[in-house]
Amino acid sequence: MAAKPMAASKRVSSVFACQECGWESLRWQGQCAACGAWNTLVERQAAPPAARAPATPVEMSALVGEEVGRLALGWPEFDRVLGGGFVPGSLVLLGGDPGIGKSTLLLQAAGTMAEAGGRVLYLSGEESARQLSLRARRLGIGGRNLYLLTETDLQAALAAAESLSPDIVIIDSIQTVYMPELASAPGSVTQVRECALALLRWAKERGVSICIVGHVTKEGELAGPRLVEHIVDVVLYLEGERFSSYRILRGVKNRFGSVAEIGVFEMTGGGLAEVENPSELFLAERPEEAVGSVIIPTVEGSRPLLVEVQALTSPSVLAIPRRTANGIDAGRLLLVAAVLSRRAGLALATQDIIVNVVGGLRVQEPAIDLAVALAIASSLRDRALPLDLVALGEVGLTGELRSVAHLERRLAEAARLGFRRCLLPRSALRRGRPEVEIELLPAATVREALRVVLA
Ligand code: TYD
Ligand code: MG
Repeated sequence: MAAKPMAASKRVSSVFACQECGWESLRWQGQCAACGAWNTLVERQAAPPAARAPATPVEMSALVGEEVGRLALGWPEFDRVLGGGFVPGSLVLLGGDPGIGKSTLLLQAAGTMAEAGGRVLYLSGEESARQLSLRARRLGIGGRNLYLLTETDLQAALAAAESLSPDIVIIDSIQTVYMPELASAPGSVTQVRECALALLRWAKERGVSICIVGHVTKEGELAGPRLVEHIVDVVLYLEGERFSSYRILRGVKNRFGSVAEIGVFEMTGGGLAEVENPSELFLAERPEEAVGSVIIPTVEGSRPLLVEVQALTSPSVLAIPRRTANGIDAGRLLLVAAVLSRRAGLALATQDIIVNVVGGLRVQEPAIDLAVALAIASSLRDRALPLDLVALGEVGLTGELRSVAHLERRLAEAARLGFRRCLLPRSALRRGRPEVEIELLPAATVREALRVVLA
């Protein structure tokens, strides 16, 4: 007689199944782990063991060649930050300050996708259908294939989504939806986290992309997007100064692509418009006589970007003079100012210093140090730098200039926009001079750099 299979002797005679969604558990429990409903588990005879095939390991090679059918928006500035479009079944978080333009961006994106034939469900807990339709009209969105739902009960909303079978669902915002069985208020830590988890499950099970909006809020007041960053697949932030019209879409986490990319938009009367040539835009308002202004070719992701750094020094009335940094790290400003006074002999001890990156942009790379140093020195001496000059390089504590990555790309962009000279670290030329149409002015230290362009 053949040996009895193990499974037969260990067979479970009954299971508890959820009457809402059919999920099965070996033990009774109060809440269904799949759909989250309460008191819906009922005992019944187990299905024969053959019903559930055991999971089998899959060889990686069988998967890597598989095409991921990304849902592209046809908006290069947005698609690039996503890594090529929405991956089906992924959960994307779009964070940002209230009023920065998150709803505008997503409504436009929804309109574009719907236009291309995708079915989009826009769930709004913040605005009425009337408000949304007024905005849609202003944005020139026709609205075919785009469905609106103003429901804040997440379970009811997902049930409605089920019947629509959309390609993408937009939830605006995670702070306004709630799970009815939880006692806490919408926007509380528990609600935000549980809603995000429910959405993650829903997206993965159905292969539908979900994009959720999260307002950045004052700490402690309400639960902000930080709370769900670890749950979602992709985290994007929309940034910008409130009174500037530029908006930067930045990837912070991406399980399916790079996070180095940014998208640049401008807020116009008709919504957000893509800025294809950000360098030109950022330089458009540069004054002719530029005391305290320096241009740096920075690199964001795969793309060089020219930005203007401005500095203003003025005699301080305070015992400890002020240092204000907008668009750069405050610590880097302190470092550069300290190096300027100790290694280049600038009298900054009694000066307030304000540094600003024009256009509401934030530059995080240390390559901006030299431009900051030059802008401060230019303001202190009240002497303008040559208008056709760009500068880049990291400043070290001994006053040395350190090399930066992607030199050729930066120089090419500067040359393309008409700049003729570049001040850069001498060490950057160690591996030969790059082939660019721009005069290179190497300097080994901050002191030498100041001598070259401000003597
Ligand atoms: P909104 O998308 O509502 O911000 P969020 O969802 O991030 O809170 O954007 C609100 C701001 O955008 C509002 O101050 C007006 C401005 N705006 C325009 O300038 N042009 C437009 O076409 C639209 C729709 C909004
Ligand atoms: Mg909004």
